Amino acid sequence: MNKIHYGFDAPGIMRNLTVFGALIIAVGFLLSFLSANLFLNNISYFIVVVGSIFFILGVAMFAYGIKGKYRTRDLMLSKIKWTGNENMLDIGTGQGLLMIGAAKHLTTGKSVGIDIWSSKDLSDNSIHRTLANAELEGVKDKIEVRNEDARSLSFEDNSFDVILSLLCIHNIEPKVEQEKACLEIARVLKPNGTAIIGDYIPTTGYAKVFANAGLRVKSSKPYFTTAYALMWIVEVTKN
Ligand SMILES: C[S@@+](CC[C@H](N)C(=O)[O-])C[C@H]1O[C@@H](n2cnc3c(N)ncnc32)[C@H](O)[C@@H]1O
Repeated sequence: MNKIHYGFDAPGIMRNLTVFGALIIAVGFLLSFLSANLFLNNISYFIVVVGSIFFILGVAMFAYGIKGKYRTRDLMLSKIKWTGNENMLDIGTGQGLLMIGAAKHLTTGKSVGIDIWSSKDLSDNSIHRTLANAELEGVKDKIEVRNEDARSLSFEDNSFDVILSLLCIHNIEPKVEQEKACLEIARVLKPNGTAIIGDYIPTTGYAKVFANAGLRVKSSKPYFTTAYALMWIVEVTKN
């Protein structure tokens, strides 16, 4: 517990893609070596291609976990012109990646993280790990963590200057419920506040919900080279 670690996202999926991808590639090569039949040879190439796609996605998730997530955090935090007295909310904070990163920009402000700490969504996911990370990063007095669902936040309307969220909203099932989380973000964001949401699925759906709720969508686009993996980020402001 005495080392800072922000976890691997969707660890089961990352492991399965990498292991099954490697196995499928091996089966494809084996088939092409053992078969003299042209049809089976063509099938074996197809199998190798499919296996390679799975394998590359698994490796990309690993690269994201060790490097890309920190680059994505830094990019998201750099989009805010910090004054130090912001009230900041991180939706689905996990082990505190964005909540702690934001707290380092604050003087009198507060950085709040909410989560339900699901272990399938993030390795070693627990509120204790989040608090330990905040202590190790020297920001414990600037943060607050709460066990809350993104779809029903306890905060009053117009509470936060900045709202951030990374790889959380896609986890909400069924998909229609993701809209509730976006509407809660729109509700608790202060006028002139900024919300920046990153996810591995295109953020156009979230952008539409924000726009319908009256927020201004500044941008919604991919950042694959920053994350070393699938990543879209939407940035919105409230009038
Ligand atoms: C892939 S992790 C990302 C954690 C963190 N944002 C990061 O980038 O390291 C997704 C997080 O969303 C949380 N989560 C999933 N559904 C949620 C919900 N309905 N409300 C709040 N948090 C949720 C999970 O518990 C998990 O900590």
